[in-house]
Amino acid sequence: MGRRSPARRPKRGEARPVELVVAAGLALVAIALCAPCVLDALSMPVVERIPTCTPCHGADGNSRIKNVPSLAGQPEFFLLNQLILMREGVRRIEAMAPFVKDLTDADAEALAKHFNKLAPQPSGEPIDPALVERGAKIATQRRCGSCHLPTLAGQDQMPRLAKQRVDYLILTLKSYRDGPRPGADTAMSAGVAGLTDPDLAALAHYAASR
Ligand code: HEC
Ligand code: HEC
Repeated sequence: MGRRSPARRPKRGEARPVELVVAAGLALVAIALCAPCVLDALSMPVVERIPTCTPCHGADGNSRIKNVPSLAGQPEFFLLNQLILMREGVRRIEAMAPFVKDLTDADAEALAKHFNKLAPQPSGEPIDPALVERGAKIATQRRCGSCHLPTLAGQDQMPRLAKQRVDYLILTLKSYRDGPRPGADTAMSAGVAGLTDPDLAALAHYAASR
């Protein structure tokens, strides 16, 4: 875990790597450069919104920043759903708040379409084959593939797990197990109930390696 801000309580053990702080600055610059958008954020066209996302989520939708998820190849409905949950403050992500607060439904749909079309790439984090093997067994027992598909490519409101960042998968699996990540669905909290930290790491290595 990275440094923690003493002033504001970090949400769900959120880490604050330096890269994330720099990326947030770049994203805010992208908004500031678009003067008309500041005057009328509601009419900011989607082509101008995409550059506000890419400093964190990667120009090709594949994140290079610790604990920031890749969006490339995520099911369109999953992306739309999460953007609306974040805009409405149901899923609270401090880093993203300024970028979703005035998204219209149409913007959210267009962003979801854009990131869905990009090709997912492995993050380059080291993958431990022993953990992959252990993760595969747990995934079979817990039937992760029944919802996320056997390839873990995701469908409908169920996210792609294949090629997702290992660090983000661990972070988010913990937040389902321990409570802070609310979803449209309680399926995930049930799916990971009772698993240990090493079990979650094994699942993350397995999913990222698919
Ligand atoms: C300052 C960095 C930053 C910027 C800019 C940013 N995001 Fe994010 N985003 C994050 C982080 C960090 C998370 C995950 C937080 C968590 O769950 O701990 C996230 C999560 C998401 C998720 C959920 C993905 C998942 O797999 O659960 C979506 C969708 C998303 N962002 C879309 C966007 C879009 C679209 C934009 C541009 C309008 C954007 N983000 C701008 C940092 C950022
Ligand atoms: C009954 C269906 C179901 C099962 C079984 C299930 N999931 Fe999920 N999973 C979901 C849904 C639905 C979501 C999105 C929930 C939300 O909106 O937060 C999700 C979200 C996730 C996410 C968040 C990814 C992201 O990008 O934010 C991870 C990681 C995940 N599941 C891993 C797993 C693993 C590992 C297993 C097996 C141990 C599993 N899931 C079993 C339905 C399921």
